[in-house]
Amino acid sequence: MLRRLYHDQPAHFAFTPANRAWAEAQITKYPEGRQASAIIPLLWRAQEQEGWLTRPAIEHVADMLGMAYMRALEVASFYFMFQLQPVGSVAHFQICGTTTCMICGAEDLVAVCRDKIADNPHTLSADGKFSWEEVECLGSCANAPMAQIGKDYYEDLTAKRLSEIIDELAAGKVPVPGPQNGRYASEPLSGLTSLKDMDSGKTQYNASVQLAVDIGDTVKRIDGTEVPLTAPWQGKAAKETPRVPKPAAAKAPAPDEAEKIGKPPVKPAATLTPEAGAGTKPRSMKAPRKAGADDLKLIKGVGPKLEALLHQMGFFHFDQIAKWSAAEVAWVDENLEGFKGRVTRDDWVAQATVLAEGGETEFSNRAKKGEV
Ligand code: FES
Repeated sequence: MLRRLYHDQPAHFAFTPANRAWAEAQITKYPEGRQASAIIPLLWRAQEQEGWLTRPAIEHVADMLGMAYMRALEVASFYFMFQLQPVGSVAHFQICGTTTCMICGAEDLVAVCRDKIADNPHTLSADGKFSWEEVECLGSCANAPMAQIGKDYYEDLTAKRLSEIIDELAAGKVPVPGPQNGRYASEPLSGLTSLKDMDSGKTQYNASVQLAVDIGDTVKRIDGTEVPLTAPWQGKAAKETPRVPKPAAAKAPAPDEAEKIGKPPVKPAATLTPEAGAGTKPRSMKAPRKAGADDLKLIKGVGPKLEALLHQMGFFHFDQIAKWSAAEVAWVDENLEGFKGRVTRDDWVAQATVLAEGGETEFSNRAKKGEV
């Protein structure tokens, strides 16, 4: 199937504040210079918010990660989980059409979708509420035929039951996911033949369905307020102050920005704020010594951008960093705009002390072998 951007695109995209905080926190999971690794979770959250991935959303995410628009588009168009065209405002149906489901009646389910939603997949129903597509095996073959609706699996389906589910969703109800024929999970249809005494402590529904019912995301759009957004690797909530470079695209893109696909975006810039923060400014140098600057990238946590920033601040050598006192570390940590806290996080002073004495750290060894 051709996967292309939809012909009719909105003018712009912006994350909700909660989703933006979540997205910014995700970026901090990755080391400096590797922010692009967050592309899939960010695209996914954009899709969760809007229902599908618009061109402005792809560009917005690319801008946040300092990626060329084309790189982000390559990811969005490669993975079928990303919807590149509008989906129903209430629900998008993904009917499994692989062998087991096909043998057990998937064609009947597709016929229901053609009849009640739209003749062709990826087409909105007349009222705009629904859309559908056929997908490959969703890994629930023991409960075939099945469909994913929103975030949840509806299993052991019949054409009649799927038709009822569409009607219930249209009426504003959310049917309980999971097996639709009375089965608890994927036990034999005729009932358990072993482990019959394992019933104590059973939840009302099987674990997956119980969690789905408890979370209640189902077919909703996600604006970020549904579940606590946490960033445990930062030791605090993501809504607090995530350490992340200020994105270049915080502004809403102008309508004509849609023309920029393929052009490299403005990258998030780390900027120096010389007088900010607590602590004591360490002694700096105007230029490196005659032998040239040390390769500060041998310090774990320092990439090309941070090295350039350190040069801009007047730090070129391991022995400079090795001498920083606690107050000086605090000053540098505070003034690494976009990378605050990195000195402490990666203990640059200890690393620089070893390197200044001509030793090697585990990281510098790997860096010299080109393994990082
Ligand atoms: S074949 Fe349908 S879930 Fe595996």
